[in-house]
Amino acid sequence: MAAASSSAVEKPFVIAIDGPAASGKGTLARRLAATFNLPHLDTGLTYRAVAKAMMEAGKALDDEPAAVATALALDLGKLDRTELAVHEIGSAASKVAPLPKLRQALVEAQRAFALGGAVLDGRDIGTVVCPDAQAKLFVTASVEERARRRWNEERLRDGATEDGDALFETILDDIKRRDARDMGRADSPLRPAADAHLLDTSDLDIEAAYAQALDIVSRARS
Ligand code: C5P
Repeated sequence: MAAASSSAVEKPFVIAIDGPAASGKGTLARRLAATFNLPHLDTGLTYRAVAKAMMEAGKALDDEPAAVATALALDLGKLDRTELAVHEIGSAASKVAPLPKLRQALVEAQRAFALGGAVLDGRDIGTVVCPDAQAKLFVTASVEERARRRWNEERLRDGATEDGDALFETILDDIKRRDARDMGRADSPLRPAADAHLLDTSDLDIEAAYAQALDIVSRARS
């Protein structure tokens, strides 16, 4: 008979970070992962990679069997952030994301990634993928501030100097549509887990946001 042990086996530490597009969750996730020496998975990239591969293969974004097949062929270790960062791919990702069987396939892979402890960021990490995560953050910012951040990124990337106002309006509309799709879908909508800590970064620069995130996670870890 196995001896009963009073020393509890320490559970791998998981940090779940959710929030809407351009809330700053990705930057926070990467920094927390470096600080706590944990692997990091940006789960948005998994939906983006599926959407990009589907578009390249000429598949409709609501073709569920094709989306599942694409997801199963995905190598989580080979997601190219730079290549997938394009705004249009983010938009396409939010169109494949409501497909329940696709979500099932991706959630399984994401959970496997989290097994030994990890930082995951996305829309449904604290609610669905890792509901037992020890630290949960829900990162938000006003829609205007989020659009401004994306606008700055796009302008830096493309060096665009003209039509700045039009570009801003396009991005703002797009983010609003994406929020509506992500919050309104039936399967795993974007919402804070009941036990998530809310972090509004609208008026915070990245250092201030990181200091608050670090404080929340450090308290959860101790
Ligand atoms: O975070 P990111 O902007 O890269 O995500 C792209 C899209 O992928 C989101 O708008 C959302 O529709 C979808 N997504 C999701 N669940 C996640 C991560 C992303 O539905 N865990």
